[in-house]
Formats: sequence, C-alpha cells, structure tokens
Amino acid sequence: MANVTIFDHPLIQHKLAILRDVKTGTNQFRSLISEIANLMCYEATRDLPLENVDVQTPMGICHAKMVKGRKLAVVPILRAGLGMVDGVLNLVPAAKVGHIGLYRDPETAQPVEYYCKVPADIDEREVIVLDPMLATGGSAADAITMLKEKGAKCIKFMGIIAAPEGLKALQDAHPDVDIYCAALDDCLNDHKYIIPGLGDAGDRIFGTK
Ligand code: PRP
Ligand code: URA
Repeated sequence: MANVTIFDHPLIQHKLAILRDVKTGTNQFRSLISEIANLMCYEATRDLPLENVDVQTPMGICHAKMVKGRKLAVVPILRAGLGMVDGVLNLVPAAKVGHIGLYRDPETAQPVEYYCKVPADIDEREVIVLDPMLATGGSAADAITMLKEKGAKCIKFMGIIAAPEGLKALQDAHPDVDIYCAALDDCLNDHKYIIPGLGDAGDRIFGTK
C-alpha cells in the first residue's frame, strides 16, 4: 500500500491556517499555495538518489554528494494544481512540466478530461502530480491513470488538503503512488466539498468567484 505523509511542520500548519481563512484574498492565497508546495517538496524529494562527487574548495578536495541525474517531471492538474508549480520548481528548477486538464462535473462530481500534454520521455522521469485538493480522489486517480497510460512508472501525488474518502480512493486506485498532504480533514459535504477545507481552490487562486 502507498506511503502517506501528512505534514505536521509548524510552518506548514501556520501557512495552512491563513490559507483556509475566508478573509484571505487571492493575492495572498496564491503566494501561500506556492510557499506550502515549496516546503512540502523538500520532504517529497527526500528519497532522490545521490552520487559521490569530488569538489575543489578553496581549501582542498571535499568528498561531497549531489543529486544523481534522476529526471523529474511535475504535472499540475488544471486549474488549481498550477498554483503549486512555482513552489516546486524553486527547489527543482530542471524539472519538466506536464499539464492535465480535468474539471469536476458539478452534478456528478465525476472528473471530466479536457487536456493532457506531458514530456515525451515521461517513462524515464520521476513524476510529481500536483493538486491542492483531494476530495473524492476521482481527479487525482484519473490523472495518474492517464500518466500511466503515457508510460509513467514512478509517480508521487502532492496535495494540500485531503478528505479521508479521497485519500482512501487514491490509495485503492494506485497503491504504488506515495501521497503527500499538508492536512487530512474531516469529511466531504453533500456537494463533495472538503469540510472544513478552504472552499474552491481554483476559484480562490484565480479570483474567479
Ligand atoms: C478541484 C480540485 C481537484 C478536484 C478535487 O478542481 O482542484 O482537481 O476538484 O476533487 P475530487 O478529488 O473530488 O476529484 P475543479 O474540478 O474544481 O477544477 P478547477 O481546478 O479548474 O477549479
Ligand atoms: N475542489 C475544491 O476546490 N475544493 C473542495 O473542497 C473539493 C473539490
């Protein structure tokens, strides 16, 4: 079964509390999503393989380590996942970026696909899927299925808030995918929104409501 990491770092919890606040405006919301993604990425990349290198310092040779040429790709689920991209690229600027477009049908809450473009060599890359909200888990599970159909083999999911229902659905659908979330909330409401959550992440990032 997939490893699940729920973050308890004080900086992440602090930023998440402001993010959830209904009084937080678009500008600050966008910055916070990026900052939280940045902090989470630090942990999500913990298992990147290292290689030994000899570095000439001004004082002599240092037997040091650098990240081995493992190739990364980040794939935000549109729209809200876009808000997390910069925070991750700050730490891994060489990563390639794919995009998967999915929206939830408002009546059924089922994901509807409208876009998919990923790096041609996705099968050789470690892939981090980004989406702040894991509600029913349908969008994340479908996005990961699409990536596997394109050849991706090594996939992680990084979200900000998960509902227990979504976490279980994603684990069941993709037991090989490690999951990183900043918070595990209480439940979904009748409209499949996360409670207490933060509302509609896409609308809050882009100011569309
Ligand atoms: C939101 C969110 C996830 C999805 C989560 O996107 O960003 O992609 O819902 O719900 P699920 O786990 O039940 O599938 P939405 O469909 O609102 O699209 P948007 O990002 O374009 O606003
Ligand atoms: N999508 C969101 O943006 N928020 C939720 O609570 C659920 C799905």
